[in-house]
Amino acid sequence: MKTVYFVTGNAGKFREAKAMLEKLDIEVQQIHYEYPEIQSDDLDSIAKYGARDAAMYLKRPVMVEDAGMFISALKGFPGPYSSFTFKCIGNEGILKLMRGVEDRNAQFRSVIGFCEPDQEVITFSGSVEGEISNEPRGKMGFGYDPIFLYQNKTFAQMSIEEKNEVSHRCMALRKFAEWL
Ligand code: IMP
Repeated sequence: MKTVYFVTGNAGKFREAKAMLEKLDIEVQQIHYEYPEIQSDDLDSIAKYGARDAAMYLKRPVMVEDAGMFISALKGFPGPYSSFTFKCIGNEGILKLMRGVEDRNAQFRSVIGFCEPDQEVITFSGSVEGEISNEPRGKMGFGYDPIFLYQNKTFAQMSIEEKNEVSHRCMALRKFAEWL
C-alpha cells in the first residue's frame, strides 16, 4: 500500500482525501506544518510554492492542496483569498454580498501539489460548477459547503461519499491517484 503525506491543518480536507484515496489503496497521513502561502491570483502557483517548501522542510514526498471558491457576479472573489475571507466574514458575509444578486453562479477549484525533495512539483487540478444558495443549508462538510449548491443540495447536505463523487477536490485527487 502506498502512503501519501498530506500537509494540511484542515480536518475537512483531510477527511475527504482519506475517504477517497483509501478506496484506491493509498494510505493518507496528515502532517501539520504551516508552509508559506504566497500571495497570488493563481492557485497553481500557491500550491507549487507550498509543496516545494514542505518537501524541503519535512524531507519527504508531500502533497498540499490549495482551493478556493470563485463567484461569477463578484468577478471571481474570494478565489485565492477564500481562506482569509472565510475567517473574516464567513458564509453570512458572502450571503450579504450576494443579497439581491441574480447571477448566483460559482465554482470551486482545487489544485494539488505533489513534491519530492529536490524534485519539480507536479500539480493536478479539479473544479465544480454550482450556485450560491440564498441561505445556509446542511450541517456536514466545512467552510463554504453550507452555501454552495450543487444541483438541488448544498455540499453541507451531502455525505463525504456524495461530495466525493462530484467535488473539485475529488477530481484533482482522482488525477493524482492515477498518476501515482
Ligand atoms: P486553502 O485551500 O486552505 O487556502 O483554503 C481555502 C478556503 O476555501 C478554506 O478555508 C475553506 O474555507 C474554503 N474551501 C476550500 N475547499 C472547500 C470545500 O470543499 N468546501 C467548502 N469550503 C472550501
